[in-house]
Amino acid sequence: MAEADGNGGLNRWSLEGMTALVTGGTKGLGHAVVEELAELGATVHTCSRNEAELNKCIHEWEIKGFKVSGSVCDASSRAEREKLMSNVSSLFNGKLNILINNVGTNVMKPTLEYNEEDFSFLMATNFESAYHLSQLAHPLLKTSGAASIVFMSSVAGVVSVEIGSIYAVTKGAMNQLAKNLACEWARDNIRANSVAPWAIKTPLAEPYLSDEKFSEEVRFRTPMGRAGEPKEVSSLVAFLCMPAASYITGQTICVDGGYTVNGFFFPRT
Ligand SMILES: NC(=O)c1ccc[n+]([C@@H]2O[C@H](COP(=O)([O-])OP(=O)(O)OC[C@H]3O[C@@H](n4cnc5c(N)ncnc54)[C@H](OP(=O)(O)O)[C@@H]3O)[C@@H](O)[C@H]2O)c1
Repeated sequence: MAEADGNGGLNRWSLEGMTALVTGGTKGLGHAVVEELAELGATVHTCSRNEAELNKCIHEWEIKGFKVSGSVCDASSRAEREKLMSNVSSLFNGKLNILINNVGTNVMKPTLEYNEEDFSFLMATNFESAYHLSQLAHPLLKTSGAASIVFMSSVAGVVSVEIGSIYAVTKGAMNQLAKNLACEWARDNIRANSVAPWAIKTPLAEPYLSDEKFSEEVRFRTPMGRAGEPKEVSSLVAFLCMPAASYITGQTICVDGGYTVNGFFFPRT
């Protein structure tokens, strides 16, 4: 049975003493999550494909006093994921409290224009990576005694958003996976949740948000009238990993300025 306060009495609002793996931590949401978790006391390992950028980030985090290390890893490759988890296991003595499946990208096309390559690329990067890393992390998460997985999903996995049907499917699959793992792994004291952001100012979203028409749509359709900041997502991710969130599992939580609950779009003045 999953115990209340399964974190052995650690501070409910802190991540002190915990270990975390955040995929894709050099930019955007992953970068904000690494900083948020490290600020709250976690020892973090992250990965990305660009070694120079990874080293630069690690150096900056060192200066800030954060405990962050990194591996070059293409999360869409099965062999590289296995190597990554083996590094993490050695680094954290076989124990991991937090897995943040953040890596993801998009190729935006109408459904009839997608080809086999687009399908495999998006499935491997966005969904298969998160699925397989969760499998690989399971023994480490279980051994930690109190663990949490967070999937970086999207509102596109909750409602229909015209940014590509394959992307949407990968995010919908993540939301369902969080529910299944929440039920399957509760007995191992592992919680699993999905965080579903709307438009957030990151390098991935920059081309869309710098398009005047798209940006105007965001302002018009979002009750809060603006795109979000990475820090507005990383705070929820961190909360879900805390002992304070010990009874929250299997949920998909939107961070969207009200976008998904806005049934009637009224022009903002
Ligand atoms: N920004 C938004 O509006 C928004 C909204 C909803 C959901 N999301 C989701 O949030 C997640 C992060 O998005 P973001 O906007 O922060 O993206 P981003 O700005 O493009 O940053 C992505 C990060 O992941 C790394 N990365 C990308 N592909 C990788 C791979 N195959 N293997 C290892 N690392 C990889 C990148 O570094 P390298 O390129 O050097 O590998 C970078 O550090 C994604 O899952 C995305 O779908 C974003």
